[in-house]
Amino acid sequence: MSILIKGGRIVTAGTDEVGDIFIEGEKVRAVGKRLPFDAEETIDASGKVVVPGGIDPHVHLDMPFMGTSSSDDYSSGTGAALHGGTTMVIDFILQTQGDSLSNALGEWQRKSDGKAVGDYSYHMAVTDYNPSTAKEVVKLISEEGITSFKTFMAYKGALMIDDGQMIGLMKTVKEHGGLVTVHATNGDMIDALIARHREEGKLSPLYHYLSQPEITEAEASGRFTDMSFYTGCPGYIVHMTCEGALDAVKRATTRNQKVLVETCIQYLLLDASLYEKNFDGAKWVMSPPLRKGKDREALWAGLNQGLVQVVGTDHCPFKWDQKLMGKDDFSKIPNGHPAIEHRMELLFSEGVNKGRISLNTYVAATSTNAARIFGMYPRKGTIAAGSDADIAIIDPDKEHILSVDSHHMNVDYSAYEGWEVKGKVDTVLLRGKVAVDGGELKVSPGYGEFIKRGKHEGLA
Ligand code: URP
Ligand code: ZN
Ligand code: ZN
Repeated sequence: MSILIKGGRIVTAGTDEVGDIFIEGEKVRAVGKRLPFDAEETIDASGKVVVPGGIDPHVHLDMPFMGTSSSDDYSSGTGAALHGGTTMVIDFILQTQGDSLSNALGEWQRKSDGKAVGDYSYHMAVTDYNPSTAKEVVKLISEEGITSFKTFMAYKGALMIDDGQMIGLMKTVKEHGGLVTVHATNGDMIDALIARHREEGKLSPLYHYLSQPEITEAEASGRFTDMSFYTGCPGYIVHMTCEGALDAVKRATTRNQKVLVETCIQYLLLDASLYEKNFDGAKWVMSPPLRKGKDREALWAGLNQGLVQVVGTDHCPFKWDQKLMGKDDFSKIPNGHPAIEHRMELLFSEGVNKGRISLNTYVAATSTNAARIFGMYPRKGTIAAGSDADIAIIDPDKEHILSVDSHHMNVDYSAYEGWEVKGKVDTVLLRGKVAVDGGELKVSPGYGEFIKRGKHEGLA
């Protein structure tokens, strides 16, 4: 099958030119002006912005968590992602404490294989680091193409590791060319604050927010940054929300250290006032919580300054009856919110169309930097001869409204209900196949492939 995308504004992290893209099979074969190729199908992209398919490196599909499971599985989750222009996701495998990484890998392969519509990979969350885990880490890097290892500095008793385990893992990962990523919040402080609020009968969603003040994230981000410096292991902080945490990373640059930073779309757009809506605030109960206007400004600035490289979602949806598990106690509300479908359009609308970031930064933050950091570039994350033909064609002026009535995620409310968005994903290609066109999904479960990743090579 060959496809010619004609006359679009083709934007990569470093280029921005009107031209054509010739695709043969799964790959881009040529990019240029007025390409002299005949194709079986031609897509007219004039007036459209053509970008690499999005890569969302932070999603939780069908994940057991807080006594329930996130409501999108690999089929609905990667399908919704495709609708929004995201062609690949990286999900998190969770090791069960006391059990092996290989058992956890098998469990996630059963959830994803034959079910995914879009491409995917996994980060391995190491929740129990010991000599036997260390051997498995080496095997995952060398044999399975899983080269990033997630750690939690919170969720004690379920996912958290201590600092001794952290530096042990970092040593092993560094030696074998991987990357350690982190949920950086101070779990002990948060647990103490949760206990105090519960004792005082303060049980509404607002107290979820008040149990995780900015300092809990700033402290842990600084500690992680120091451990990464001490061990020399490359570090990546996931879902950063606030100025204090970003300051820790900024401070580290003065000793010539670069810690990589991901924020998520919600932390750029929403704030903690949503927790004042009584139990409705449960829709945005996530960890870390939404913050203040000054934090949003710091994150937008961080994107432009190159301190924040990636915008993900931390997509972890729960239906309303699942959120109701915490109706009498905020600490029982499953943490997470649905966003996998909206990241590309929201960032386009609020970032590019409102002049906060350039189109090149948009592409870097939505695909290229993730591809490079997580060992997939240039196969993924760009539009160039030889790359996978993963492409999103965006109508930059088309206005639409986000709603539960039109989204494709398996969740019965929208965290962005009524948001007016300018810029709509029209057509999406995944490995040379039209995957979404005119709002219709054209690929089926099983089309999505597991992508083996290479070693972490840093960001130049
Ligand atoms: O609230 C969140 N973020 N839920 C998913 C688990 C995590 O911490 O990323
Ligand atoms: Zn987290
Ligand atoms: Zn997460």
